[in-house]
This record gives sequence, C-alpha cells and structure tokens, in this order.
Amino acid sequence: MKVKELIKVLDDITGGRVVKDLSDIFTDKNPFVVMKSSNIPGKSVMETPGLVYGNPEAEIKKIAVTMTLTEGNIELAGATGVDAIVAHHPIADAANSGGVTLSYYLRLYNVAVFELHEAFHGLHPGISYIHGHKPFRVDIRYGGIPGNILYVGKALDEVKTLGDILDRLNKMMDMDKEHQVMSVERKHFSCDEMKDSATALQGEILLGTADSPVNTILHMFPHTGFTPEHLVNAKNEHPEIDTVLATISRVDKDSDLVKKAKELGLNFICGNSHALEIFENGLPLAYALRHYLPKDIEIVIFRERICSIPLKDFGSPNIKEYAKYITDNYLINNKK
Ligand SMILES: [Fe+2]
Ligand SMILES: [Fe+2]
Repeated sequence: MKVKELIKVLDDITGGRVVKDLSDIFTDKNPFVVMKSSNIPGKSVMETPGLVYGNPEAEIKKIAVTMTLTEGNIELAGATGVDAIVAHHPIADAANSGGVTLSYYLRLYNVAVFELHEAFHGLHPGISYIHGHKPFRVDIRYGGIPGNILYVGKALDEVKTLGDILDRLNKMMDMDKEHQVMSVERKHFSCDEMKDSATALQGEILLGTADSPVNTILHMFPHTGFTPEHLVNAKNEHPEIDTVLATISRVDKDSDLVKKAKELGLNFICGNSHALEIFENGLPLAYALRHYLPKDIEIVIFRERICSIPLKDFGSPNIKEYAKYITDNYLINNKK
C-alpha cells in the first residue's frame, strides 16, 4: 500500500473532507482547511486535513494513530517500523517535532505524517455516546461564537442517574486498570506524590449526588467560551434540561458557571478530559482504518500518558548530580 492510497482512505472515511490538491489550501474550497489562531504573534497554524509530509509513492506497512504529534511519537515510529503517523491534532513545523524542522526529521526515518482534526470532528456522536446521552440539538456556534459547541441530549435508557454516567465512564476508560498502573509506578519510584494525566482528572459530580436523576443533558466544553449567560439562554430554550455536563475541559465548583447552574436547580457533572481523547476519537479512527486497509497493514495506537513528579523525586542520583553540576556551573548568572 502506498501513501497516496492512505490519503484516499482518509478521504473516504471523512466523506471527501481531505485536501486532495495542495492549491486548495490557498482558496476557500475546503471548509476544513482552517487557521487556528488566538492572535498570539507567530503562533497560528493552518489545519490541512490529509497528508502533511511524505512521498505519495512511498510504501506503508505499519500505521500509528496518535492524538498529538511529538518528538516522542517520531522517535517511537522510527524505532518500531511505523511508516505513517495519522495525528488528530493539527501539525506545525518544529512545534510538533521537538523544535527541529519536520521534513528533515521525518525524512531521516522515512515516516509520512497525516493530520485529521476538524475534518474528523462531527463525523460521529462519540463524545455524547461515551457520556451516555443522545443529542437532539447540536449547535457548533452557540451564542454566535464559532466553536462554542452545545449539545442538548436525552439520557440513554441505561443512564438514569449521575452515578450511572460516572460508572459508564469508569468502565469504558478502564479506570481501575489506570489506577493500578499509577499505583505500581508510584511504588516502583517510591513517590506517593506522582500523578498522571489518565487518573488525575476523573469524572466528578459538582452539583447533585450519584443518585440524582438525569433525563435531559446540556453538554458543553468550557474552553470554547461557554458562559453563564449561555447557560441561562439554553435553559430557557429547553426548560427540560436537568443536568450540565462539562467535558474535554472543566470548571471548578466555585466557578460562575457552577454557581449559575445551582441557581437554576441543575445537576453539574464533569466528564472525560482532553487527555483521554485517544479513546473518543483515536480509537474509532483506528478502527475505521482497520476496516478500509488491507489486512497485512499493521495498525498501532500511540498513547500519551504524562506523569507529574515532584522535582526532588525525579531521576536517578547520578542525573540529579548532573543537573546540579550544570546549574551551578552554567546556569546561574552572577554577573550584575
Ligand atoms: Fe478532537
Ligand atoms: Fe482534541
């Protein structure tokens, strides 16, 4: 199988959303070619769904699906015979390749990279399904703000309470196993304060109890600009809403959003964080690839798990000595 055939497969999966001709990125022909910018000088990136780098005629035998391309991903691909990485999040030169330019690095290991972000979003109702509801309203620019996504959904038959939502998430994400892994690692490194991105944030009830009934769910994403006023408006539009569900990012229990939900007599629950998106989007993408690709093409998932370790506990005694030596001799600037 060739790189160009994988472009075609991603185009089939997305119903034609992939960039087929590079000249398309300079026109408004493909609505999934979008600039991502929060107006921080020099830090914008253009999403170009499809092939980002690679020779279209190159052979592919092994594919990795990942969320965010990093130097760790590129090294792992090089070390394990991966010929193509399909990343969900958009890719920018140097930012996604350890500070060095992408093309030299990828050419060295002969790895092609693809991205498929907004072009993949909206193809499936996965995030609501994982959290146990079926949306009857989807607004991707609530309050006129592009990307301020609002779902209003009916709880699935098997989801009757807030506790059912938490149980569902814990089972799907296999949280027991994640906690076991974390506790083994803590023990192994003799570091009780160690945390990781899989277990530090779990589903959490901020208003209500595990027994609180759930029927109609307002599902929002706090990082996209959803405000307490939006909440009031949505409740007016759908008075049957009884529960607010915040996912990908979250708010704390003293936030204005939770205060407003309390005033309105709503439950408030936080679901999966962005750190678990590989389960929500990566795995279905990998299964879709499995469906379309010849059986002899191997598919792996590159899963990221970030660990937080107190400075005093990180590294071997020798590397701590090294870090102190470098600091003392090179990094403390006494020149006034
Ligand atoms: Fe995503
Ligand atoms: Fe994401």
